[in-house]
Formats: sequence, structure tokens, C-alpha cells
Amino acid sequence: MGVSVDAVENLLILGIDTSCDDTAAAIVKGGSRILSNVVSSQEAIHSKYGGIVPELASRRHMELIWPVVGEALKGARVRPGDLSAVAVTEGPGLIGSLLIGVCFAKALSYVYDLPLIAVNHLEGHINSVFLTDRPEFPFIALMVSGGHTSIYRVDDFGQYRELGRTRDDAAGEAYDKVAKFLGFGYPGGPVIDRISAGGDPAAIAFPRADLRGSLDFSFSGLKTAVLNYVRRFPDVNVRKEDVAASFQAAVIDVLVERVTEAALTEGIKRIVLSGGVSANSALRKRITERAEDECFDLYLPPLNLCTDNGAMIAAAGFHLFRQGRFASAALNPRACLPLGQHPAGL
Ligand code: KG4
Ligand code: ZN
Repeated sequence: MGVSVDAVENLLILGIDTSCDDTAAAIVKGGSRILSNVVSSQEAIHSKYGGIVPELASRRHMELIWPVVGEALKGARVRPGDLSAVAVTEGPGLIGSLLIGVCFAKALSYVYDLPLIAVNHLEGHINSVFLTDRPEFPFIALMVSGGHTSIYRVDDFGQYRELGRTRDDAAGEAYDKVAKFLGFGYPGGPVIDRISAGGDPAAIAFPRADLRGSLDFSFSGLKTAVLNYVRRFPDVNVRKEDVAASFQAAVIDVLVERVTEAALTEGIKRIVLSGGVSANSALRKRITERAEDECFDLYLPPLNLCTDNGAMIAAAGFHLFRQGRFASAALNPRACLPLGQHPAGL
């Protein structure tokens, strides 16, 4: 599709994400200028259950989708008819949650005659880097969130090769489960991040899974080791700060080791972090130090772009728009959608 440079710079994309428990919408101009970015968190609803209740999440998305999109449009001073396209998360995620975003985007696209773009949520996370930076290709991407933990080699927009992945829990999921067990509530990542600052990361030697010969991760053994440790010493005055800090140290060790190994093996000196866990302060510090040692260029998204948001979906949608990859009105959400697989309707 031939789009002039001027037209590309003026492209106004509405990005919508309802993949999990946040209702998010944003307007992005020219692929990187965030005009508005609204995220309505459902933390208060799910925290009393210690995790996301899918049925409650989709019901809440239904209530929030119009107000959130409306606020994004208002904040950007944009009318729906001014938009160049609507980009929406097709998957992966909770099917009931995804359904709300996809149905809403399809309706908006139909009523205002706007092109519809289907975005893979993981591609959205990786593309959040282009909202603030311009890393050259190829680069190594560590995608570390509540649902996924993978390392990709990214050769161009839309060209991803998975080099490693978790064989069980995602890192964020391990944070959330350990936090629930320690009585810290949901989501666990930010709490463990904060509490660990007052603990000793070397207090307890929790296991680091070494899956030899691969760049894969495994966090379920670590999670069990933490639970067993706390159960085994119920009467001893176990400092929760030390447990949290020691758990966190084990997660960060393997994330930093594996992504460094991936970069060295592929001979690529650019690393991009993305996903909710990349907001972790200790991970950001450790990976920054390691990147300096190895002379890597490191790209860390700002905190508000690490966790789920609509701007990253609009940023990914921008590149799909330029490639002319639009979805049809038959678009349906997909709970499982590996990165690199062509979204439906293309
Ligand atoms: O990317 P995201 O918002 O949603 C998914 O796509 O999963 O990531 C959410 C995950 C949760 O597991 C949350 O506990 C974790 O990211 N998280 C953190 C931090 N902030 C969010 N984990 C560790 N440290 C943080 N500061
Ligand atoms: Zn996410």
C-alpha cells in the first residue's frame, strides 16, 4: 500500500487492549507520538481473590470500554471520524476479555468506516520500544510478563524468531503466586519489588533452573521452593523481606543470564526489554549493569509502557498499517496466538 511520508506521519491510530484485567485505549500519531493513553485497572476487583477472575474481568471490560475509549479520544482531541484506523489486541489473552475489545473495535470500524488492524499482544509489548526509541534491527527482545516469558530475535517489523521460552510459569505469574502465598495481594510484582528493597537477596539460596543447551526458562520449581521454605519453617521468624528478595534475585539471575547468552550467541548487541516484569527496579538495575559490562545497547521502556496499555497496540498497528495488513470484519479473538503467526483475517 503506497502511503506518502507526510501521510504516514499523520496517521492517527486508536489502540485498544483488553487482553487481561486492564481496559486500555490510546491514540498514537505517526507511530510514536502518544496523544493519549488511558488505562483503567481492575486491581481493586481482583485483589481480594488473589488473582484475576476471568468472568469478572470481561464484565468489567464491558462497562469500561466506552468510557476508556471516550477518554482517550477526548484527551487527544480527536473525533472517531478523524482516525486512520482502529488497532485491537486479537490475542493471546483471556478469551472473554479479548472478545469485548475485538467486538468494540469491529463496531467502531464498521460505523466510522475505519480500517481494522488485528495486533498480537506480544508484538504490542515488543513494539512499545518504538514509542520512545528507534533501535536498529536486528535486536534481541526479552518479553517478560504475567502470561509470557520468552526471548525473540527480531529481524524487522513483524519478523520474530523465538529463541527461548518458559516451559511452565511465566515470571510475572511466579511473582503473583509467591506474593499471594506471602499474603501481599495481587498483583504481586510491584509489591515484591518494593518489599525486596528492605530484604537480603542472598539470605536464602533458591534454585535457578539451568535448562542446559537451551535458552528456555522454568519458574515453577522456584515457586515451589519458596512455598516449601516458608512452610518448613513456620515457627522460625522468617523475614518476608528476605524471602521476597531471595526469590526475586533468583528470577532476575536467570532472566539476565539467558538474555545475555542469547545476545552473545546471536552476535547481536542490542537488547530490548518489554512486558510488565520489565518494570521491576532490580531487574532494570541488573540488566543495565550487565549491558554496560558487555557493551550492549539496552532499551528499557518507561514504566507506564511496560505493563499493558493501548499505546503499544497502536504502535504495532502503525507498522501493520504501513504494510497494508488489515483485518476483515470476520476477525475473532484467539486465546492462544503465537508471535509470528499471521493474525486472522489477513
Ligand atoms: O504485561 P502485563 O501488564 O500483563 C501481561 O501481559 O501479563 O504484566 C503483568 C505482570 C504481573 O504478573 C505483574 O505482577 C508483573 O507484570 N509486574 C511486575 C512489576 N510490575 C508488574 N513484576 C515485577 N516487578 C514489577 N515492578
Ligand atoms: Zn501484557
